[in-house]
Amino acid sequence: MLSDNQIHDVKRTWAVVETIADEAASLFYGRLFELDPALKPLFRGDMAAQGKKLMQTIGVAVASLDKLGEVVPAVQALGRRHVGYGVTDAHYDTVGAALLWTLEQGLGAAFTDEVAEAWALTYGALASVMKEAAAEVAASPEAVASA
Ligand code: HEM
Repeated sequence: MLSDNQIHDVKRTWAVVETIADEAASLFYGRLFELDPALKPLFRGDMAAQGKKLMQTIGVAVASLDKLGEVVPAVQALGRRHVGYGVTDAHYDTVGAALLWTLEQGLGAAFTDEVAEAWALTYGALASVMKEAAAEVAASPEAVASA
């Protein structure tokens, strides 16, 4: 659970990163593929478009931080779709590390320990919902059809 202060930290720092969204997306994927080059072939589409989708989705989640219950079904469906993209639980840690690194690059000195902690909790919450939904697909593959 995030405190009101942490929610505020995430929202105000995301507003800064959004002003450099394209650059942040390209920094993010550069870092991700540096951390694990084996992830590259999972991405088949246009990376600029993919970067936009990623930033938009994080934006929606950030905007909903004080009412996360409302976006849980959409995040679960996103997690189920990721099974089809070949994404495994371990990949979520790598993506989280690349995301936090990107925020640090984008925010500079504004990326304080408190801000880092608030973002780690935010990403962790999203990743948990996605991974749990993915595990349900593994247990019952027909669930993906309704994703
Ligand atoms: C909070 C975590 C994540 C968010 C918000 C997110 C968001 C998205 C979105 C919005 C899409 C577009 C397609 C769709 O809506 O189904 C997508 C596709 C994709 N994501 Fe994620 N994702 C996350 C975690 C991950 C992780 C951990 C991986 C592992 C490498 C990953 C790899 C991919 C791949 C391979 C695609 C398909 C790309 C393609 O078809 O070219 N994502 N993601």
